[in-house]
Amino acid sequence: MKSVAVFTSGGDSPGMNACIRAVVRTALHHKIDVYGIRYGYEGMIRDDIFKMNAQSVANIIHRGGTILKTARSKEFMTPEGMAKAAANISSHGIEGIVAIGGDGTFRGALEFRKYCGVPVVGCPGTIDNDLPGSDYTIGFDTAINTVVEAVDKIRDTAESHNRIFVVEVMGRDAGLIALYSGIGAGAEGIMIPETKNDLDAVLSILGRSRKDKKSKIILVAEGDEAGGAFKVSEQIRAQFPQADIRVTVLGHVQRGGSPTCMDRVNAGRMGFSAVRALLEKRSHEMVGIVNGKIIFTPFTGAVKQMQEPDTALIEMTKILAS
Ligand code: F6P
Repeated sequence: MKSVAVFTSGGDSPGMNACIRAVVRTALHHKIDVYGIRYGYEGMIRDDIFKMNAQSVANIIHRGGTILKTARSKEFMTPEGMAKAAANISSHGIEGIVAIGGDGTFRGALEFRKYCGVPVVGCPGTIDNDLPGSDYTIGFDTAINTVVEAVDKIRDTAESHNRIFVVEVMGRDAGLIALYSGIGAGAEGIMIPETKNDLDAVLSILGRSRKDKKSKIILVAEGDEAGGAFKVSEQIRAQFPQADIRVTVLGHVQRGGSPTCMDRVNAGRMGFSAVRALLEKRSHEMVGIVNGKIIFTPFTGAVKQMQEPDTALIEMTKILAS
């Protein structure tokens, strides 16, 4: 293999830059030329493809976002878009691709296979942590730490005013950000799309909670079936008209910021392993870390499925928050 390309696609996540750096430096170590593709699949279509060197990735390990930019490309999903992208990949002589992104990125790569025979290896980059095949995705650890930091601050003011705060976090299909940051921040209630009737559970927690604990934090994943934080707060108000309730939607603040050390280490391991995997002739597989070890999962198995809720963790949160 003489040349590889790397791109980021879908929602950005902290640690993507550390992964790009690892891909570039590993490829150069193996005397392979490296191309960066800007704006993901969109850049493949527009031929926004450029040669990278060791200096291209200097001083980026600590930066959030992605130096390669990102996009969710609609044109790529058309036969014409895929054909253009395939022609550009071939014109640069690219023989392997590292795709950093979430399930949309890997679905795209599976479809692209019909137009382009170049092997693709994926690195899981999304704050949602919703890809089977890796215990953690790049950006999840940073995102949950961002949420915990914000909720700690909210708790100070909630406690001073004896208020209930309903805090909405990201995760349109997955509740892992809400679950982990809820445990970390000691939330009194956690609402996630994987479990139904969370609202009833929260109302019952509020109804029977200790009288000496007046402030409460309820974390709601944006994809929970009860609707967003505003809807949940209305339901709480209907049941507890005396309660003083406030809503905070954390939004895209969760996607930014300097990656945690854990995200940088995981991103580095994954980027490094992705290049090695291309050299070993792997294709259409995602690098993951399971039980601390690098493993590979075919894209077909890595794309999103509704995850089984971790019932033991959910039970634990109820006991610890009582
Ligand atoms: O997939 C990551 C994610 O941050 C989700 O949690 C969220 O629902 C979505 O992206 C938001 O996407 P956008 O930035 O395109 O609005």
